[in-house]
Amino acid sequence: MNQRDIVQWIMRKTIKENSICVDMILGNGNDLVYIMNLAMNGKVYGFDIQRVAIQRTKEKIKPSHRIQLINDSHENIDLYIHENIDFGVYNLGYLPSGNRNITTSVHSTMFSLKVLLNKLNHGGNIVISTYPGHREGYCEDIEIKKYLTTLNQHEFDVLHFDYLNRRNSPPKVYWITKVGKV
Ligand SMILES: C[S@@+](CC[C@H](N)C(=O)[O-])C[C@H]1O[C@@H](n2cnc3c(N)ncnc32)[C@H](O)[C@@H]1O
Repeated sequence: MNQRDIVQWIMRKTIKENSICVDMILGNGNDLVYIMNLAMNGKVYGFDIQRVAIQRTKEKIKPSHRIQLINDSHENIDLYIHENIDFGVYNLGYLPSGNRNITTSVHSTMFSLKVLLNKLNHGGNIVISTYPGHREGYCEDIEIKKYLTTLNQHEFDVLHFDYLNRRNSPPKVYWITKVGKV
């Protein structure tokens, strides 16, 4: 089972037909396409700072009022999303077959995560994949884990998926659920 299988399994378990979702990092748009097919009557927002990522995502979808692609940093989420959300996903790192110098960063990831947690509906979920194999990814993973450990257990469930027997810094997955009635 790879990281993508775990993330997609969580998506299938948690995203409902009418869910309001956000892909915090579009990249090639694969997560957004997967989400869109689950939230068939919901709404999907997607962020990326690179125009090439927005373009690659557009090529995979049909234009729809249910999808809003935003060419800006996810730190500015409050400027664009004025409703609570049911599901959010981060696939951190750099764009596959893109510029490897443009990667997500600890500051913007942590800032946006705190805003996103405040926007999460009861019963809502956030899934984060980290890639500790490169320097920024290693720092992101440490900060995310440290922060998630501090969340109040009466408000959030936090699960952590780790490959204990894989070499070369494999990806990790964090699954956060806001406890309470849906
Ligand atoms: C690993 S890719 C995302 C993979 C994607 N989820 C997929 O399914 O293909 C990383 C992306 O993060 C984007 N990125 C970096 N910093 C960002 C930020 N502050 N806000 C939004 N996107 C950012 C980069 O432009 C790059 O496209």
